[in-house]
Amino acid sequence: MAFNIAIDGPAGAGKSTIAKRVAKELSYIYVDTGAMYRAMALYFLRAGIAAEDEAAITESCRQINVTLLNEGGEQQVFLNGENVNGFIRTEEVGKMTSAVSVYAPVREKLTQLQREMAQKADLIMDGRDIGTCVLPRAQVKIYLTASVETRAKRRFLELQEKGEGCSFEEICEDIKQRDYRDMNREISPLKQAGDAMLVDSSDMSIEEVVAKILEIVRNKKE
Ligand code: DC
Repeated sequence: MAFNIAIDGPAGAGKSTIAKRVAKELSYIYVDTGAMYRAMALYFLRAGIAAEDEAAITESCRQINVTLLNEGGEQQVFLNGENVNGFIRTEEVGKMTSAVSVYAPVREKLTQLQREMAQKADLIMDGRDIGTCVLPRAQVKIYLTASVETRAKRRFLELQEKGEGCSFEEICEDIKQRDYRDMNREISPLKQAGDAMLVDSSDMSIEEVVAKILEIVRNKKE
């Protein structure tokens, strides 16, 4: 049986950075489910479909094919055969993703795909609903969080490094709104699974968080 590690938590808690490192240490596959939702959101944006248009979103779900490939240890996301990795990390796509990930047809499509991957291989999967809904029987579940201020500070520095102008207050507000939407949607809201270990990274370095998770995994395997 494949060994599955689920990492859930709010935007900016460091899930993907941490999960990538843990995957490398364990030689596991890393699956970034946010990227899959982002690819679907990109499709709707390109097609000019509004986030509120549930009927059009439901209808076009059938025409969307999302696939993942691992190239050189990096996850590549394909939307109907096109590698869209370079297009899905913008603020515009992020906002659209949070808005359209509330719809059942969007979630069902990706949940099925994620479960199929988890059955086949040892992996670490990050997202919002992995421990609660996608892989309720994952052997290790982590809920990785950090304070809004810490997460906003990380995002602020990231954008500054990229040379993108932004205000700290705006980022804080954005994070709060995204948290609210992700935690209060009807289907598969973001919440800590009853059997997940809580890790608060506010005052921890990346190395400390990675070490903590590896320790949890080792204890589980013993
Ligand atoms: O982790 P991320 O920032 O790439 O996720 C973008 C959005 O996708 C996030 O606001 C909520 C949604 N998402 C989700 O609903 N379920 C997941 N398993 C992963 C992401």
